[in-house]
Amino acid sequence: MCGIVGYVGSKQATPVLINGLKKLEYRGYDSAGVAVLSESSDEILVRKSKGAIKFLEEKIADEVIKGSVGIGHTRWATHGEPSDLNSHPHTNVSGTIAVVHNGIIENYAKLKAWLQDQGVVFKSQTDTEVIAHLINYFYEKTGEIFKAVLETLHRLEGSYALGVVCTKYPDRLIAARKESPLIVGLGKGENFIASDVPPVLEYTRDVYYLNQNELAVLYNDHVDLFDSEGNKIVREPSHVDWDLSSAEKGGYAHFMLKEIHEQSKAFTDTLRPRLVFDGETPSDIQFDEIEFGEDWKTAGRIVITACGTAYHAGVVGKYAFEKFARIPVAVDVASEFRYRNPILNQNDIFIVISQSGETADTLAALRLAKQAGAKVIAITNCVGSTVSREADEVIYTWAGPEIAVASTKAYTTQLMCLYLLALKLGKERHTLSESEYKKLLSEIALIPEKTKEITENQSEIQKFASRQFNKSKIFYIGRQFDSASSLESALKLKEVSYMHCEAFAAGELKHGPIALVDSDTLVVAIATEPALYEKLASNIVEVKSRGAVTMAITIDKTGAFNNCCDEVISIPDIEPSLASMLSIIPAQLFAYYCSILRGNDPDKPRNLAKSVTVE
Ligand code: AGP
Repeated sequence: MCGIVGYVGSKQATPVLINGLKKLEYRGYDSAGVAVLSESSDEILVRKSKGAIKFLEEKIADEVIKGSVGIGHTRWATHGEPSDLNSHPHTNVSGTIAVVHNGIIENYAKLKAWLQDQGVVFKSQTDTEVIAHLINYFYEKTGEIFKAVLETLHRLEGSYALGVVCTKYPDRLIAARKESPLIVGLGKGENFIASDVPPVLEYTRDVYYLNQNELAVLYNDHVDLFDSEGNKIVREPSHVDWDLSSAEKGGYAHFMLKEIHEQSKAFTDTLRPRLVFDGETPSDIQFDEIEFGEDWKTAGRIVITACGTAYHAGVVGKYAFEKFARIPVAVDVASEFRYRNPILNQNDIFIVISQSGETADTLAALRLAKQAGAKVIAITNCVGSTVSREADEVIYTWAGPEIAVASTKAYTTQLMCLYLLALKLGKERHTLSESEYKKLLSEIALIPEKTKEITENQSEIQKFASRQFNKSKIFYIGRQFDSASSLESALKLKEVSYMHCEAFAAGELKHGPIALVDSDTLVVAIATEPALYEKLASNIVEVKSRGAVTMAITIDKTGAFNNCCDEVISIPDIEPSLASMLSIIPAQLFAYYCSILRGNDPDKPRNLAKSVTVE
């Protein structure tokens, strides 16, 4: 969703802002803009444009915007269509205050009506514009910009990350956050704000992750932090220890392809610190970051809540916990969970999964669970994210920055964490024998290597995609773990190829969906459960005899699917109950190649945002 950048220093602000906005493109956006305090006159130079950042660049190509304090924004429309007018920054009537905002002001209609009663004429349809006018109102009352921002924040309901500049204070930039993410980058003689770390990394690795309801005032030589009442806060900055190059394409055509290929390393990084070795042999799992105490051993149930791809990881997790630890698991999409007055028990373990750690619905579910007294464990990829700060305990997926909107390596590392938890719990609850446990650990240790085998041999998938990318209907089917993997496979294809794709538990086909099958249908069966091969093969025959093209993604090496499938993608052999970490990779590649063949940009699918910070 929207991206914010801001700069105070001695460089020309505009190129720094544009450069920063490009590093936030992955969040999804439909327009872009900048506001710079003019060096030569008492005004704010606001330039904005609907569409890609390049249109904004074209717009300002022939002018020199001189000024070294400014704010920039990529907008993902919520209130008002994507247009030049609705793009941020927004200003007060006289143009002396400019604001960029990420989030939603829920009481904006009431505030807007009140401001209109005061004679304010609005230029846009956005909720954000009320903020600029309110700051102006309180500035006229208090004569002090910081106080005016504070007074404004006290009246806003909803979520915001904000950057504010004012012509009367040309030496500073004011920032604030509630719900939506915002970081402050601490440079030498220059300081920055941004919605995420990548825009500041080429200048500094020292950052403040702003907490809920905090404000920051940035000058070129220092930054002051404040709480919501305007009291100064002192704290040490955090140090970012990952590299910008890990957030860049590194020779791949797209971030999505790079991130699919990075899965072997991401698995290693997520797995190795948690595996205990006896010589060369893995002997145990150790989570240093969570207390694996009595509450886990005596838990009556695990409740998993997440959205989208992270929810699909939770569905695989359900199969893993139930199989290895014999504990009941309820898994739910966060947007449903939060509104249905869920039943939580004292001895439930509550797990939220979120790549970004900023998803609004997931956060709301987390808060609900905490209010109900549940212990909340978060699985997230983003250190310093709101989820990581609000959960009782955090398990990080060490996938590295995921830039493509469609999640790949974050998903598979979420699976890895869930499997590790399920195996450890199985050991502690004695539902896995010592020998079964050790055998599974030896198998899980092979996952990174086997992942590499799949990504290094992708030509079969690429060729198959080149024959199927025009199909009008695609169905993924599977049983047990494979039905869970089907959900994520179908979502990946929808997200980046825009092909109509659904997932069904294979046994459900004959209860309705088979009516859709004709010769313009591709059915992909995920087949990693040998005990169910025969049943699955029967389902494949049923669709094939109705004209569908069929493909299997399987660990089978006996030819079980050769007769019923037009194409068999063979993945390396692995203990079947762990195969979900591998079987998804051909599906990710298939989605990627279909996207390219259909002329789409797989990194920035239409209508989607990387971080969904509104409900
Ligand atoms: C993933 O490909 C999707 N773009 C989306 O479903 C995503 O998984 C979902 O919005 C949840 O995001 P989170 O993991 O950051 O909470």
